Amino acid sequence: MAQLICRNLCLGYDGREIVHNLNFAVNPGDYLAVLGENGAGKSTLMRTVLGLRPPMSGEVLFGDGTGRAEIGYLPQQTAVQKDFPASVREIVLSGFEGQSGLRPFRTREQKRTAEDVMERVGLTGLKKRCYRELSGGQQQRVLLARALCAARKLLLLDEPVTGLDPRMTAEMYDLIAGLNAGGATVIMITHDVGAALRYASHVLHIGPECWFGKPADYLSSAVGRPFAERMLREGSLRGGGS
Ligand SMILES: Nc1ncnc2c1ncn2[C@@H]1O[C@H](COP(=O)(O)OP(=O)(O)O)[C@@H](O)[C@H]1O
Ligand SMILES: [Mg+2]
Repeated sequence: MAQLICRNLCLGYDGREIVHNLNFAVNPGDYLAVLGENGAGKSTLMRTVLGLRPPMSGEVLFGDGTGRAEIGYLPQQTAVQKDFPASVREIVLSGFEGQSGLRPFRTREQKRTAEDVMERVGLTGLKKRCYRELSGGQQQRVLLARALCAARKLLLLDEPVTGLDPRMTAEMYDLIAGLNAGGATVIMITHDVGAALRYASHVLHIGPECWFGKPADYLSSAVGRPFAERMLREGSLRGGGS
C-alpha cells in the first residue's frame, strides 16, 4: 500500500500555476529523488505534502498508517537559519515540538531519543556547541537529526547537500542511504543527478513537463535526458562530478 499519493496535483501562487497535474506514489522503503530547475516548484511540492500550503487543485493522500505526524522534514537552508544562535542539542530537541505542542519541557524518552539520534549522525561531540559556529556539513547533520526526532517513517529532505564539499556530501549521502536501508522512506530534493541515479529507487522530475519513474528509464526519457546531460556536464566542469 502506498505511503503517499499525489493525485492530479496543481501547485502555484496567487492564481498562477507552477506545476500542472502531477501524479506519483511513494511506497514504504522507497527513495525518491526530486529533480528540476531552480524555481520549478520542488520546495513548494514538499511544503504542500507537509500541509504547510494548500494545492491549487488535486489531492495529497497518505496510506500505510502514515500521516503528517510521521514526517521528518529538513528544510532548504536560508542565510538566517545558518546564523541561528542556539546549541546543537537545543535545535535537535526542537524536532519534538510538533509532538508536544509548545510545552517547553522534553520528556526523558525524548531526551534519550535525541541522544541516540545525535550519536547516529555523529554529533555527540558537538552537542553543546553553538549551531552557527559549525561547518555547513555539521549544520546539515544537525538538521537531519532534528528531522529524525520529529519522525522517521517518511523523511523529506530539501537539498540536504547543497553547499557541502565533496567529502561532507559523500558522508551525508551515506547517512541518508543508511536511514533508508533501516526502513525510512526518503524523498530528497537534489541538484545532483549523479547521486539521484546512484541512490534513488525512483525519480520525480518537476518542470513544465513532469516525469516519474525508475532511475534507469530517466536518462532515456525526453524530460530527463537533456536535463541530466546538462547537469552532469556542469557538475564535471565545476569539478564536483558525483
Ligand atoms: N511564497 C511564495 N509566494 C509567491 N511565489 C513563490 C513563493 N514561494 C515560491 N514562489 C515561486 O514559486 C516558484 C517555485 O518555487 P520553489 O518551490 O521554491 O522552487 P524550487 O524549490 O524548485 O527551486 C518560484 O518561481 C518561486 O519564485
Ligand atoms: Mg527549493
